Amino acid sequence: MSIAVYPGSFDPVTNGHMDVIEKSFSFLDKIIIAVSTYPRKNFLFSVEERMGFLQEIYKDNDRVIVDKFDGLLVNYLEYKEVNIILRGLRAVSDFEYEFQMALTNRRLDKTIETVFLMPGEEFFFISSSLVKEIAFLNGDISKFVPNSVKKALIQKVTKVP
Ligand code: PNS
Repeated sequence: MSIAVYPGSFDPVTNGHMDVIEKSFSFLDKIIIAVSTYPRKNFLFSVEERMGFLQEIYKDNDRVIVDKFDGLLVNYLEYKEVNIILRGLRAVSDFEYEFQMALTNRRLDKTIETVFLMPGEEFFFISSSLVKEIAFLNGDISKFVPNSVKKALIQKVTKVP
């Protein structure tokens, strides 16, 4: 069975993430979405909220497992007995960061490989940070995130002073 871990902050999940997951089904049997709990990052949504969006979206899809992880990603993969990391790659601007992470992870554990998938062009410019910025500035985020996330984001930004 081919299985990969798709790690990320998912703060929040966007249509771009979902497109990468959808595309991965053409060559993966199962995917573990691993939501980062890294305490030094300033997340807008709690890990429970970030996992909750994903669990709701994939509740009827038994090829998707939603989990969280802390510490080193390679340790999580070892614990799960998985050796493929899945990452989305958008514009060239992603490349350096992704390249560095992939090579570092391989250095930390040589049995691990990172596989990159390009989302559709319509998702190339979407990022969780931009979506949050648009929401904070009262812009329309309907095209970028699923409805559940849109509602939660609007609620969240109206609460933040
Ligand atoms: O969605 P993001 O924020 O780009 O995801 C980044 C993430 C969570 C995949 C990355 O920061 C990570 O793997 N963090 C875990 C800590 C770790 O293993 N660091 C060394 C990897 S180079």
